[in-house]
Amino acid sequence: MEVVIRPTTQSAVNLTAQLIADALRAKPDMVLGLATGRTMEAVYARLAEMYRKENLDFSLARSFNLDEYIGLGPENKNSYRYYMNTQLFDHINIDKRNTHLPDGLAEDVEAEGPRYEAEIDGAGGIDIQLLGIGRDGHIGFNEPLSSLSSRTRAKSLTPETYEQNAPLFDKPEDMPMRAFTMGVGTILDARRLILLATGAEKADILAQAVEGPVTSMISSTALQLHPNAIVIVDEEAGAKLTGRKYYDWIFAHEPKWAAYQNI
Ligand code: F6R
Repeated sequence: MEVVIRPTTQSAVNLTAQLIADALRAKPDMVLGLATGRTMEAVYARLAEMYRKENLDFSLARSFNLDEYIGLGPENKNSYRYYMNTQLFDHINIDKRNTHLPDGLAEDVEAEGPRYEAEIDGAGGIDIQLLGIGRDGHIGFNEPLSSLSSRTRAKSLTPETYEQNAPLFDKPEDMPMRAFTMGVGTILDARRLILLATGAEKADILAQAVEGPVTSMISSTALQLHPNAIVIVDEEAGAKLTGRKYYDWIFAHEPKWAAYQNI
């Protein structure tokens, strides 16, 4: 795992978007794993800007989102399909037929996970999976005790996640209590992971995720098991990391980071 601490939220966001843009330019039909939530809004705004101003071409790209609320259809303003359309897909030249989320209205809840996994396999697997981190340390909606080898399935959300996300609903009580989510094992199958965390409220859990013991109680600790995982944070989210001197030293000296110093 590598950790990159950037001085501002915007530079952490820009670095995240730049890594995705560089990968897309190298492989125009790449398979992107996408996340939703507040943190990602700025990343999608930056990617849309790169499409407009830097000819970043998404026409051949394919995407799979981590999760979707059970019971919410694409027209529902709080569904993650709606979020993705309005935050990103409507602003770039991706073909929406190549964008995938679990079907929140799937009639057969048990079958939806395996169906989604088969779609990911059919696309050749995920090249880069973008991740945020929940207050309880979840990635996707892999709440505490999610098996580190779990696959896409229905998951009940924790009260903490409920508290985190219900304010985003017009009526907080409308937030579903269950969601489909890629499993931790599904996420670990991606060829590269990029987790972005910003803001002071993520500092404690981020330090546990990166420097604490691997545990199914905090699904983001599973990133430690992945051979190609990058954690990008701003100063606030990185404030509780103890190994900072080493992380900064690598970012300053590894040749592969040379082009990214002033983003
Ligand atoms: C949503 C997802 C979640 C969020 C996490 C952080 O697709 O994957 O794990 O990334 O809950 O959410 P924010 O960014 O709103 O703090």
